[in-house]
Amino acid sequence: MLAINVKNLSKKFGATTAVDDISLEVPEGTIFGFLGPNGAGKTTTINILCTLLSPSSGTAFIAGHDCSREPSKVRKSIGIVFQDTTLDKDLTAYENLMFHAYLYNVKKKEMKGRIHDLLHFIGLYDRKDDLVKKFSGGMKRRLEVARGLVHRPQVLFLDEPTLGLDPQSRALLWEFIVELPKKHNVSVFMTTHYMEEAEVCNDIAIIDNGKIIATGSPAELKKTLGGDVIYVRTSDNKSAKIEIENLFDVHVHEKNDELFLTALRGDACIPELINSIGETVLSVRLQRPTLNDVFLKMTGRQIRDSDMTSNDTVKESIRAYRRKLDRH
Ligand SMILES: Nc1ncnc2c1ncn2[C@@H]1O[C@H](COP(=O)(O)OP(=O)(O)O)[C@@H](O)[C@H]1O
Ligand SMILES: [Mg+2]
Repeated sequence: MLAINVKNLSKKFGATTAVDDISLEVPEGTIFGFLGPNGAGKTTTINILCTLLSPSSGTAFIAGHDCSREPSKVRKSIGIVFQDTTLDKDLTAYENLMFHAYLYNVKKKEMKGRIHDLLHFIGLYDRKDDLVKKFSGGMKRRLEVARGLVHRPQVLFLDEPTLGLDPQSRALLWEFIVELPKKHNVSVFMTTHYMEEAEVCNDIAIIDNGKIIATGSPAELKKTLGGDVIYVRTSDNKSAKIEIENLFDVHVHEKNDELFLTALRGDACIPELINSIGETVLSVRLQRPTLNDVFLKMTGRQIRDSDMTSNDTVKESIRAYRRKLDRH
């Protein structure tokens, strides 16, 4: 069964089409990355999949349940980590998890064991009795991931989980996220605008202006760029250029006294290249394409890093979700 199955989903806010006819499939047990710049439609999509918003058209199924027709079943199947923290800062880490366990009717005799296991998993067991307001941003985010797992969901949604964290905390959080499918039997749907983070995802969709403009594994997407770039400096560029062009049957360019060519498996070409023009080689370097390059190619723009601030829309979604949970 698919963890997530979305077909022709759209969401309009008045004249704005926030999500524009998107389709995607997330197989069970995988990590799916939803990438795009600010305002692309990522949070709106998550809100629809989490049953906080209804779509204008199209369908979405989570673990086989229809988001429009079976919202309570969907809600039981998912965990959510919102873009902005929703922890209760005046409770301890342990109390935050307990509170969530009660909300989701986790069996009393299982609560303690589960919460202890999760606190160990995120490396916060020793801090379990500290108030959350004393925690760093990274610790809070890890605790939110743990909270999202307390009721054993089938799918965990993470909206910009590493936003605002320092590089070290981001790296640490990633160590936990990549282990989730195996250790917690959960599929992960996460958004980010840090392209390099998406490298660990099994599959990716790039969204821009509400439309999915590319999907595939990180390797597949990077392949569309035509492969690696090999840069060579030699003592005799003129003859080296001819030699390399004959060797690989490609066009070799020259810029700033450096020759360069594109190759699908650049690393495998280097030994041959050195064999052929060995004596004149001064240096060789290989540049692998990044997901940033993919985004640049698809949109003609760099993904923006600067303006990812929290907004009222997100805060309102959280309040709405809490209200729904309370009624639930
Ligand atoms: N409740 C809302 N009312 C009106 N417009 C909205 C609302 N929520 C989001 N939008 C608009 O939809 C677009 C997508 O927003 P969003 O899904 O938050 O993007 P992202 O999470 O990728 O930054 C933006 O243009 C945003 O202003
Ligand atoms: Mg967002």
